[in-house]
Amino acid sequence: MEETFVLIKPDGIQRSMVGRIIQRLEEKGLKLLSVKMMRLDKKNVEKLYPHLVEKEFFPRLVNFMVAGPVLAMVWEGEGAVLATRKLLGSTNPQEASTGTIRGDMALSVGANLVHCSDSLENSKKEIDLFFSPGEINKYEKSTGIWLREEPWK
Ligand code: RTP
Ligand code: MG
Repeated sequence: MEETFVLIKPDGIQRSMVGRIIQRLEEKGLKLLSVKMMRLDKKNVEKLYPHLVEKEFFPRLVNFMVAGPVLAMVWEGEGAVLATRKLLGSTNPQEASTGTIRGDMALSVGANLVHCSDSLENSKKEIDLFFSPGEINKYEKSTGIWLREEPWK
């Protein structure tokens, strides 16, 4: 079972989108393992986005990401990393399909509401950045078997 890291960005908190974003992830069948509200600093943003530190827009991205509190989360499910990427939609909300979180709820690449891991490898790194192992809540859900093919076998 995969785990992925999801972070509601400052615009998502300010625009009161927390409930709607969490609802989309829950509806998909993903299981919430941990939540932490925090304020990022520049170092956190550099560690979260190491592939972007040299980009010309990186200072603007830092300013945006530290502008208010964020909600860091760990979600679990079959194929959770790719499933969550698809739920979020393309990076630029102008290109994101209708039906995705960014496609439905955002307009600007500089304010695209939510981050998620782009690979299983990066999900492990990102979860480790923000959570200790003891903060990840492993538990069974009675509905879990009904998210798999032929649960009765
Ligand atoms: P994220 O990491 O936030 O889930 O986004 P992503 O994988 O879809 O895209 P990524 O390339 O990792 O970019 C991270 C965040 O940087 C900002 N960005 N701005 N101005 C620009 O051209 C630009 N490009 C990227 C966005 O906030 C993007 O989500
Ligand atoms: Mg990314």
